[in-house]
Amino acid sequence: MRELQKIDFLLRCGRSRGNAVHLIRLKKLQLNMPTLESLLREERVFYPSEELIEKSNIKEFMEKRSIKDEDELRKKALEDVEWFWSEMAKEVGIEWFEEAEKVLEWNPPYVKWFIGAKYNIVHDALDKQMKLRKNKVAYIWEGEDGEVKKITYGELYREVNRLANALIELGIKKGDRVAIYLPMIPELPISMLACAKIGAVHIDVFSGFSPIALRERINDAGAKVLITADGFYRRGSVVRLKEDADRALEGAPSVEKVIVAKRVEFDVLMQEERDYWWDEATKDQPKECDTKIMDANDMLFILYTSGTTGKPKGVMHAHGGYAVGTAATLKYVMDLKEDDIYWCTADIGWITGHSYLVYAPLILGATSVIYCGAPDYPKPDRWWEIIEKYGVTLFYTAPTAIRMFMRFGEEWVEKHDLSSLRLLGSVGEPINPKAWYWYYKYVGKERCPIMDTWWQTETGHFLITPLPTTPLKPSSATKPFPGIEADVFDDNGNSLYGKNEGGYLVIKKPWPGMLIGVWRDPERYFKTYWEKFRNVYLSGDAARVDADGYFWIQGRLDDVLSVAGHRLGNSEIESALVSHPAVSEAAVVGKPHEVKGEAVIAFVILRKGYYPSEKLKEELREHVSKEIGKIARPDEVYFVSDLPKTRSGKIMRRLIRAKLIREKIGDISTLMNPEALILVEQAIEGK
Ligand code: WT7
Repeated sequence: MRELQKIDFLLRCGRSRGNAVHLIRLKKLQLNMPTLESLLREERVFYPSEELIEKSNIKEFMEKRSIKDEDELRKKALEDVEWFWSEMAKEVGIEWFEEAEKVLEWNPPYVKWFIGAKYNIVHDALDKQMKLRKNKVAYIWEGEDGEVKKITYGELYREVNRLANALIELGIKKGDRVAIYLPMIPELPISMLACAKIGAVHIDVFSGFSPIALRERINDAGAKVLITADGFYRRGSVVRLKEDADRALEGAPSVEKVIVAKRVEFDVLMQEERDYWWDEATKDQPKECDTKIMDANDMLFILYTSGTTGKPKGVMHAHGGYAVGTAATLKYVMDLKEDDIYWCTADIGWITGHSYLVYAPLILGATSVIYCGAPDYPKPDRWWEIIEKYGVTLFYTAPTAIRMFMRFGEEWVEKHDLSSLRLLGSVGEPINPKAWYWYYKYVGKERCPIMDTWWQTETGHFLITPLPTTPLKPSSATKPFPGIEADVFDDNGNSLYGKNEGGYLVIKKPWPGMLIGVWRDPERYFKTYWEKFRNVYLSGDAARVDADGYFWIQGRLDDVLSVAGHRLGNSEIESALVSHPAVSEAAVVGKPHEVKGEAVIAFVILRKGYYPSEKLKEELREHVSKEIGKIARPDEVYFVSDLPKTRSGKIMRRLIRAKLIREKIGDISTLMNPEALILVEQAIEGK
């Protein structure tokens, strides 16, 4: 009890979460994981204002159906998920070409939604909007250099059609894969929509990824076309993206054609017969293009995400269910209405951007802001300036960004009038109480509730999230969205619901935006998500559920890091390290970091003939950055002569991490070489 008071005290004085965690020496759960912040509790509850509740979309939905409160809604929705999701489809205005014969078919581990329906998501995102909102602004785009473009639904429609026709001319057909490697310019959503319109599958690769990472994804997907740009601005200087794309293509024989958008206007090398400037490829194309009539369960995109092996997995999503799930959650969680100005700061290259910057807001006919540049450029108030300038009403960002702005100080926020804001959102990792309060107080002025949305690349849309009517407990993603059955299991599959004990976060019923598989790897799909608890989806996160049914997400259980909201596989970074000639073995672990959430720390065994030096450390950090991208660059590299391993030879990252954060080690009976732990410790202490 004394300890709990101490933590509370630390939190209230605003000391770092790291300290508090450290102090409590958490009771280790029987799970194979580093630390669970099981005792790190925040007792205060925050209630959304009456006005906000009264006017909320969810309140209206419930009133129409005489449902008295959200708990009743959750109950009803779970009793009949088919009813609930059909209602959602209607409420977000989905227009099927042909109606479904059946809502749900669940043949574990595969799901189909809206069976028999003919559909294309682009019909709702774009074609339909030509009748409804042709002259409404779909995107307010701002570049780092201050350039602004306002793109209406009508303009977006034309540009998408032109590019779609160009893709058809290049031979792209239904089911073909098109890789997209673009910064946050309007051509990025246009490319995705153009692919989807003709039934092609888009594979976005975040523009911060290295050529090698891009190549790996292109090859895995077998993409025929790559869409990229000459370059873009970041912190005032030019990033030469086309050069990276060219490097990737040196080993990517499936790519026949490349379309290059112009953003910065400098000379780039264009390979004859292969490379086409965007403008030239699209300018003479017709402004109309038929939308391919697809099956609701046909594939819309593949998006690669990190897992426990070195190889990224291609998560597949389909048109129909994904459209319903993303649009419904945006409408009822972020409370999106016709005249809102909505800003989701995520990069479109990740799932958040796919779902909540491209598909869902367009289906709902929203006006969204896209900013292409560094958040603190030229000054740390760039984001707040944008909110004021465009009168942003709904703002959705990540805890890592909030922590960065906290460091700059609230004076940068206070310079701007943020009174237009009505509701805030958070995603990517648990938002620690300190960041929560800061966001609530300085950005939301204690008026705007924070929707802490838990979901994943695989889930497609929010699964555990507050509604605008939900009382909030800071740091808790609160409760499952209606129609979602979430639980926490112990190792044997017993429910720990309401017990406030850490365990495996699982989802017990399929949901509309659920992944339809892992690209060309059904076995991995089964093993990763469905093997441990048969027919129950294993999220890979640890969580606990308190007595009020609130979910507290505690981080990943598997070997996956969360760096500045980006998911990186430990083994992915390790493979990058061992691909360097000097490295024989490597272990990568995460260390709590105040801004990034986790920092990448590498332990490296050198090959014969190589010796530790500062220069080599820097070279290895640079090497990882080249192999994967800057986000994966290790903060620290330690040279060791041995690493702790199990008898079967598996490196025990858990123990290395425990040493790193000075935590009790616990059971080491399965360790083959206990002395290696001492070596690790000495390296950390700089001995
Ligand atoms: C992992 C998924 C979903 C878009 C962003 C990342 C963590 C995400 C939360 C949240 C606690 C969260 C989980 C999850 N995560 N949102 N609100 N609270 N943790 O997508 O790269 O697929 O990563 O991000 O660990 O498993 P992703």
